Amino acid sequence: MLVLGIESSCDETAAAVVSDDKTLLSSVVYSQAEHKAFGGVVPEVAARAHLDKVDFIVAQAMQKAGVTFKDLDAVAASGGPGLIGGVIVGVMTAKAIAAVHKKPFIAVNHLEAHALTARLNNDIAFPYLLLLTSGGHCQILTVEAVGKYKRLGATIDDAAGEAFDKVAKMLDLGYPGGPLIEQYALNGNDKRFDLPRPMIGKAGCDMSFSGLKTAVRRLIEEFEKPLTQQDKADICACFQTAVLESLCARLKNAVRIFQKDHPTGKSLVAGGGVAANTALRTALNALAVKKKLTFYAPPLNLCTDNGAMVAWAGMERFKAGLTDSLDFSPRPRWPLDPTAKR
Ligand code: KG4
Ligand code: ZN
Repeated sequence: MLVLGIESSCDETAAAVVSDDKTLLSSVVYSQAEHKAFGGVVPEVAARAHLDKVDFIVAQAMQKAGVTFKDLDAVAASGGPGLIGGVIVGVMTAKAIAAVHKKPFIAVNHLEAHALTARLNNDIAFPYLLLLTSGGHCQILTVEAVGKYKRLGATIDDAAGEAFDKVAKMLDLGYPGGPLIEQYALNGNDKRFDLPRPMIGKAGCDMSFSGLKTAVRRLIEEFEKPLTQQDKADICACFQTAVLESLCARLKNAVRIFQKDHPTGKSLVAGGGVAANTALRTALNALAVKKKLTFYAPPLNLCTDNGAMVAWAGMERFKAGLTDSLDFSPRPRWPLDPTAKR
């Protein structure tokens, strides 16, 4: 079986074809450089760029996979949550292909796509504990089955990726900030400055990064300008370590809940753009080993937004008999766990 997946919910226009035997036949990602000048994603600019590129990206994905629309078993697109202009572009494109070629259409929750991506490259049984950290989302969830999620905690303010992006902007590093901060941090001393570890010691699994971001802003204000490369590297290292320690501390609480609710659960899984951070992956692996869990994360290029994650989540839903009608409405908000408060 073959599924085409289209992603357009933020600033990546992407398409991919996967098969049910977990072969990634193609994956084409166009990362919109249009936003670099703004230090963040501009929704209207993103929507126009998706519209410009989507047909070409889909055609490339089909060509690289060596298949035609007739060979597909279903067509999936990110149906939300995300920037609505972009989501509409991907959903309309997928619906058009599905309608013309009489194939089932699948609206994939973008967060579900991040949640299931690690299963494309690994055999990970349900239930598992998931840390989902991206530019727009930061949550800890139990993944019980395809379509069945329980949220244990979420950020009460900024997402971790957003904090990476904002700190990078303060330091004039560029956008997106995560990979740049990670690069700088490699040459930095993470003990030079004392930054807060948000939420550590508090009950529950919620997270917070806006106080840490403000602490970094104050720290930068104290410096004579321009900052040296070493100062920037040290600030990046201190900030990154503070984020990682905070995430791990919140996850420790989550592991306790997960192991109590699901004694058979064996895996800790990461997903979303921030899961591409090598230091975070190392810290999560150490935490998993300590708690007798196995740690899994998607390959680096499948952590940030891509079409393969949508195609794979589409495949998982298709196999579970979950398809959508062509009158599905794109959703700017779409919680994975509808019972979660906030
Ligand atoms: O999943 P994603 O591509 O988009 C959303 O769904 O939001 O995540 C993008 C986010 C950005 O905030 C980016 O700075 C962050 O992921 N990111 C990273 C790294 N690579 C991407 N954060 C930390 N370290 C990285 N290596
Ligand atoms: Zn994403």
